[in-house]
Amino acid sequence: MNPLAAELNSIIENVNPHILEMLSEMGKKLYFPKGILTQSAEAKQKAHKINATIGIAKQNNRVMALPSITALINGIDPDNFLPYASSFGVPELREKWKHALFQKNPSLVGKEISLPVVTGGITHSVSTFSDLWVDAGDTVILPDMMWGNYSMTFGIRNRAKIVQYNTYTPDLKQIDIDSFEHTILRESSNNKKVVVLLNFPHNPTGYTLSVDEAKRVSSILIGVAKHGSNVVVGCDDAYFGLFYEQETMKESIFSLLTGADKRLVAVKLDGATKEDYVWGLRTGFVTYGVGVDSDSSVAVSGCSSSSKKPSLSDLYFALEKKTAGCIRGCVSNASHLSQSVVLKSMEDENYPKYKQEKFDLLKSRALAIKEVLKDPIYSDAWDVYPFNSGYFMCIRLKDVDAETLRLHMLDNYGIGLISLGKDNIRVAFSCLEQDQIKLLFDMVLQGINELRKLN
Ligand SMILES: Cc1ncc(COP(=O)(O)O)c(C=O)c1O
Repeated sequence: MNPLAAELNSIIENVNPHILEMLSEMGKKLYFPKGILTQSAEAKQKAHKINATIGIAKQNNRVMALPSITALINGIDPDNFLPYASSFGVPELREKWKHALFQKNPSLVGKEISLPVVTGGITHSVSTFSDLWVDAGDTVILPDMMWGNYSMTFGIRNRAKIVQYNTYTPDLKQIDIDSFEHTILRESSNNKKVVVLLNFPHNPTGYTLSVDEAKRVSSILIGVAKHGSNVVVGCDDAYFGLFYEQETMKESIFSLLTGADKRLVAVKLDGATKEDYVWGLRTGFVTYGVGVDSDSSVAVSGCSSSSKKPSLSDLYFALEKKTAGCIRGCVSNASHLSQSVVLKSMEDENYPKYKQEKFDLLKSRALAIKEVLKDPIYSDAWDVYPFNSGYFMCIRLKDVDAETLRLHMLDNYGIGLISLGKDNIRVAFSCLEQDQIKLLFDMVLQGINELRKLN
C-alpha cells in the first residue's frame, strides 16, 4: 500500500471505520500522488521567479497558444482554458457547484458535505463511484428499468453482480417500493455491504419519487444501515431540477441520506451536462455525504488543526483526494475549457432566468404529452408509465413487439424511438416540438395497427 493511501485510510478510519470498510480494494489503494501535479501546484503558488515544472508551454509569461484556437474563444482568457485543470477540478467551479447544491437542496442546510470533485461528465462520475466503492462480485442494486450504461460500468468494468427490483407495480399505478425494500433487505442480509444506485428523474421512465415515497425509500436505506449493514448509495441526479408536478420531491434524495447513519455513504453524481444543456462539454461532479457516529468524538469542521482527532472535513478531503487520484489515473483531469464555460455561465446574472425558460419549455412538452395521451384511442395499444420529470417517458405496448415497432417506425415513417426489452418504447420528449407530440403518438398507433394486421 502506498504510504499516501495508508495515510488517507487512517484518517478515514479514525473518523468512521465503516467508511473504510465500504471502500473497494481500489478505493483503499487510491491516493493523490505528490508527483508532478502537486509539485507544480506548489510552484504555482511560490515559484515567482522561474517556474519550470509543468508539462505545458509558456511564452511571455502567458500560456503558449495558437491564434487559430484563441480566436475561437471569446470572453475567456487563454490562461483559463488552455492549461490543464487540477484533477480535483477548477476550485471556483467546485465552490460554486457546492453552493448551488445547498440552494437546490434545502434539506442539506446544517449538514456537511464534501467539496464536489469535477469529472468528465456524469458517466465518468458513475464510473469513478464504481471504482471507489465496488469490488468484483459486490452486489449493486438497480431497478429493472434502468439506464443501460450501468451494466457497462458496474457489470462489465467493475464486475459487480447487478440485482434488480421491479421499477413499477404490475398495474403500472405506482413505483414498486415494496419490491425495492424486499430486495434491499434480502441482499443486506446476504452481504456485508450493499451498493444501491438511485436515479431521479429516472431514465428511461421520467419518474421522480413523491415526497412521501422519497421519505420511505430513504428510511428503508437508513433502517438497513442502522441494523448493521454497510450501505453505499449513488444518487445519479443527471436530470436534476426538471420536476414538473406539485407533489414530486424537488430535492435529491442525497440530502435525506447525508449524515443519516455512520454506515451509510451517499454519493451525489450529477453535472452540468443535462441540467445546463451542455451535453458535449462533459462536466460532471462527485460529492460525498456521510454520517459519523453521533457519540464519537469527531471534531467538527474547522477544528481539526487544534484537535488531534481528524474531523469530518478531513475525512471528506481524504475521499476527495482518492477521487481525484482515480481521475488522475484515468483521464488525468476534466476539460478546463468546459469548466470555465460552465463557471462563467453560472456567474451570469441571467443564468436563473435562462434556466427557468428551458424548464418551462420542457415542462410544457411533458404536460402536452399527458394531455394527448388522455385520448382513449390509444388505450388498447399501450399503457403509459407514470412520469413527472426529466427528459423521457415510456409506454408499455399491449400486443406488438417493441423492437419490431421501432424498426417499422424508422423504416416506414422516419420516426426514431428507443425500444427497451420486448414491450417498452421510450420517447425523449426533450427533443419534441409541441406540434410533433400528437402527430408522433398518432403515427405510433398507426404503426401498431399495421403490425397487428401482419400478425
Ligand atoms: C441516468 C443517466 N445518468 C448519466 C447519464 C450520462 O450523463 P453524461 O452525459 O453527463 O455522461 C445519462 C445519459 O444518458 C443518464 O441518462
